Amino acid sequence: MPEEGHRFTCALITGASSGLGWEYATQLAPITNHLVLVARRGDKLQELQELLHTKHPNLEILCVGADLSDSAQREWVFTQLAEKNITPSLLVNNAGLGDYGEFTSSNWDKIEAMIEVNMTALTHLSHHFITGMITQGGGHILNVSSLASLLPIPDFAVYAATKAYVTSFGEALRTELREHNISVTTVCPGPVKTGFGDIASRSEEKRFESDFYKELDVPAEQVVRESIHALLNNRARIYPSWKVALLAAGISILPIVAIRSFNSLRFRKSTTLESTDE
Ligand SMILES: NC(=O)c1ccc[n+]([C@@H]2O[C@H](COP(=O)([O-])OP(=O)(O)OC[C@H]3O[C@@H](n4cnc5c(N)ncnc54)[C@H](OP(=O)(O)O)[C@@H]3O)[C@@H](O)[C@H]2O)c1
Repeated sequence: MPEEGHRFTCALITGASSGLGWEYATQLAPITNHLVLVARRGDKLQELQELLHTKHPNLEILCVGADLSDSAQREWVFTQLAEKNITPSLLVNNAGLGDYGEFTSSNWDKIEAMIEVNMTALTHLSHHFITGMITQGGGHILNVSSLASLLPIPDFAVYAATKAYVTSFGEALRTELREHNISVTTVCPGPVKTGFGDIASRSEEKRFESDFYKELDVPAEQVVRESIHALLNNRARIYPSWKVALLAAGISILPIVAIRSFNSLRFRKSTTLESTDE
């Protein structure tokens, strides 16, 4: 199992073109021999590659532009790596997206892409690379979930459900893979200022700039630093920042009836607003 001072032979990071993925690449670069960066925006990956090369001239970097919501493109990623004889010793399943708003009025293409990227791609990549990790004698998987994985969230229903899957899958996989010397760490951030909010919002609404979000907001640098520390110390799960960890602890002991009552306030609020309008 890894510990402080450990070097990764090869780290594959999904969603490296922005936000947390970009930061994972930046912070893993000094402790990794080879980075594989995956996302759709190849130009952003190239930009990151050039930036990292100036700081770490010996670091090997492979950029793979692919849409992870498409199973054929995921297979293409696997072929690219197999042809170069690359097996990641660390897989960072970070790519993801959200959609904020009522499920009824959601755009199906976006919902489908969210399910594919947040759950299917994460599962497919894990399934594919685990075999190579076992052959190499071990490895590490870091899954980026969310604080949202802990409870059902009206207006964020599908996103929260996809992240509940990620957290549950990571915990079970960790136990299964222990005998193969593969560690699985799940990171559950609260709000982080990245491109996430703009993509999740359907309009110009500033939902992700409310006082609640500002209070909990943690810089991407801290989320990544704490999650790499957790990975190196073989932690099962981490909630970066003490505020988010405290909130997670509170949510975890709440009975489901309390969560339902809290969630129902949303409907009372909209009813009140409707009656006020009349
Ligand atoms: N920011 C937050 O508040 C927050 C909180 C909790 C958890 N998270 C999780 O953190 C992870 C990273 O998100 P972020 O905050 O860094 O958001 P971000 O800045 O929007 O980054 C998302 C990344 O995912 C990639 N991605 C999205 N769809 C993809 C697709 N179809 N194929 C390949 N790559 C795709 C994007 O790359 P391309 O667009 O170039 O494809 C981008 O690099 C996500 O799993 C998210 O759910 C974020």
